[in-house]
Amino acid sequence: MALLGVNIDHVATLRQLRGTKFPDPVTAASLCELAGAHSITVHLREDRRHIQDRDVKLLRETIQTRLNLEMALTEEMVNIACEIRPDSVCLVPEKRQEVTTEGGLEVQGCLKPIQDAVIRLNERGIQVSLFIDPDQKQIEASKKTGAQMVELHTGRYCNHRSQKELKTILDSIHTAKELNLVCNAGHGLDYVNIRPLAKHPDIHEFNIGHSIICRAVLVGLGQAVREMLSLLT
Ligand code: PXP
Repeated sequence: MALLGVNIDHVATLRQLRGTKFPDPVTAASLCELAGAHSITVHLREDRRHIQDRDVKLLRETIQTRLNLEMALTEEMVNIACEIRPDSVCLVPEKRQEVTTEGGLEVQGCLKPIQDAVIRLNERGIQVSLFIDPDQKQIEASKKTGAQMVELHTGRYCNHRSQKELKTILDSIHTAKELNLVCNAGHGLDYVNIRPLAKHPDIHEFNIGHSIICRAVLVGLGQAVREMLSLLT
């Protein structure tokens, strides 16, 4: 069974909308863990639009499973990760105007900075994942960086829901396996479009946020996490 990492950024989005103390992503993380989530993911964006530094620090202290920190490849973020020491870091591209992470990293174009970051983070005991488009070239370039994992961006598949996009993801999972890279997947996955991928033996972990938090508004967070886990079992 693939593991389920729950991305709780949108709990923080709701909090930031009104500048209140609630809902607290730290509380949300505990509820996800109680419902069986295998890890908690947060994206500390450079503009701090949802998750705040305080959240990451408190989550590091309170999370009982694993903390996965999504972040841009900047000096500031690598320093923060080295200080807080999440269990893993997922390097993502970040554009200030985007609503969410729109595409994967262009790995070949910045091999050296990624390699340097991987070394620094690994030295602190942090595993590194690269968020990439499901593209053979990106996977091959990822291998050269020394990163332990890739996370395949499933956004195009989720938007188009076509057999062609599904095949692109399946081929990429295969390539990652051949190159001995741990393969995760995420972005845009929901309770319906995850089905063709849910039981794939070579997907290590799904990172899912928006659809779970949206369902939680209607059925509660524990129930939303349990429903997603039942699809993976
Ligand atoms: N994985 C990565 C690297 C992401 O940037 C995001 C979005 O923050 C997700 C997974 C989760 O995407 P969604 O919220 O669409 O489930």
